[in-house]
Amino acid sequence: MHQAAAVFLLAFSAATQALDNGLMRTPPMGWLAWERFRCDIDCDNDPQNCINEVLFRDMADRLAEDGWRELGYVYVNIDDCWSSKTRDAKGRLQPDPKRFPGGIAKLARYVHDRGLKLGIYGDMGTYTCAGYPGTTLDTIETDAQTFAEWGIDMLKLDGCFSNSSVQEQGYPLMSKALNATDRPIGYSCSWPCYQGGLPPKVNYTILGEICNLWRNYGDIEDSWDSVLSIVDWFTDHQDIIQPAAGPGHWNDPDMLIIGDYGLSMDQSRSQMALWAIMAAPLFMSSDLRTINSGARAILQNKAAIAINQDPLGIQGRRLIKEKSGIDVFWRPLSNQASALVFFSRRTDMPYRYHTSLKALNYTKGTYMVYDVFSQKVQPMLKDTTDFVVSINPTGVVMWYVFPAAGWQVVGSNPGSAMRPLLGP
Ligand SMILES: *[C@@H]1O[C@H](CO)[C@@H](O)[C@H](O)[C@H]1NC(C)=O
Ligand SMILES: *[C@@H]1O[C@H](CO)[C@@H](O)[C@H](O)[C@H]1NC(C)=O
Ligand SMILES: *[C@@H]1O[C@H](CO)[C@@H](O)[C@H](O)[C@H]1NC(C)=O
Ligand SMILES: *[C@@H]1O[C@H](CO)[C@@H](O)[C@H](O)[C@H]1NC(C)=O
Repeated sequence: MHQAAAVFLLAFSAATQALDNGLMRTPPMGWLAWERFRCDIDCDNDPQNCINEVLFRDMADRLAEDGWRELGYVYVNIDDCWSSKTRDAKGRLQPDPKRFPGGIAKLARYVHDRGLKLGIYGDMGTYTCAGYPGTTLDTIETDAQTFAEWGIDMLKLDGCFSNSSVQEQGYPLMSKALNATDRPIGYSCSWPCYQGGLPPKVNYTILGEICNLWRNYGDIEDSWDSVLSIVDWFTDHQDIIQPAAGPGHWNDPDMLIIGDYGLSMDQSRSQMALWAIMAAPLFMSSDLRTINSGARAILQNKAAIAINQDPLGIQGRRLIKEKSGIDVFWRPLSNQASALVFFSRRTDMPYRYHTSLKALNYTKGTYMVYDVFSQKVQPMLKDTTDFVVSINPTGVVMWYVFPAAGWQVVGSNPGSAMRPLLGP
């Protein structure tokens, strides 16, 4: 076994108790409106892009009909700007009557009828970030109850217009209130993001006990710079945040912007590979009605998804940061397998990176290698064999690696997870 694997497994088994709602044992996958559609409420002039019930029904149709659902992309998530500017006579949140005339319960039924789940957005504070009614300490139970009655399956709770003491009380209280509804509702907490993402202000033990996922860092934007700044923050602080992740409780580096306007194909593969190796939630935020086939193929890459969804749920780490601008990431997977990402920060030309599995701390043995994006089995590698990977500028090479010995063993085949991809 990889030496570092033993350390991770120990850290994993020592992890304290996690939120016990049975949900999100692997990172949640789906679609979230914010990055692509923001707070466009101008349905009169921009009907294709505005936040209304049609947008969410359209995305549910696409997830159900275009092969996404079968791959695990099951959440259809509403973000800010869905609600009316006022609560109803009984003090409950209500959707904007013009843009959601059917109401949220009806939308939830539509989504559920297609084998999908519906997520909604709230804010632990006086207002949401876009200025809609927030959830204050005295409305937590009402709002949890309202969401449950509507048939909501996931809540993203933002943290605008509040302070640290309100957040410290409010986020755990919402966790309790969701539990008290008896409806399993995945809980995404933006709390750490508002407290700088690091101890002592952020206590990851507490987060793991009350939230299924949490946003550690700022919002993603539609640019490579934004992706890179997130990757940098997550790797610079990996010693703190990597041990916090595990089944049912995940670090969230924010949405996938693959299929939007800011990333090249190489950069899109980089985001997919790095999100997979970080065990990140995979929430796409693109227009699935018009997404191009290149972006679709990356988002639907079965091996990248299988790596992301590995049942051990151990977040990967950066192993090496080379002066040449190459970073190597590694993630231990079930069945003695592992994933490697060779990532180039260079901006000149494809870089030929020389290394060996031994140099990456793999133990003595012979390994099978499957290249995730070229979808090809590589020649078998001894740990000592020197090899070269050619990595495009701002791109990646991603490998699924497993011991060759087990490949022949029927029944306990370490490569069985890759069988459907590799063929008989
Ligand atoms: C935090 O906000 C609450 C509610 O608005 C307010 O009552 C409280 O005084 C604030 N606390 C601090 C430390 O600013
Ligand atoms: C509520 O919490 C209890 C105890 O942690 C757990 O067993 C139960 O499944 C939770 N229920 C929901 C609906 O989250
Ligand atoms: C984090 O919270 C846990 C549980 O309440 C507590 O035991 C621990 O001491 C806290 N850690 C820090 C660094 O404050
Ligand atoms: C490999 O393991 C050694 C000894 O534990 C450690 O010093 C080194 O940093 C590791 N190298 C990598 C690339 O993880």
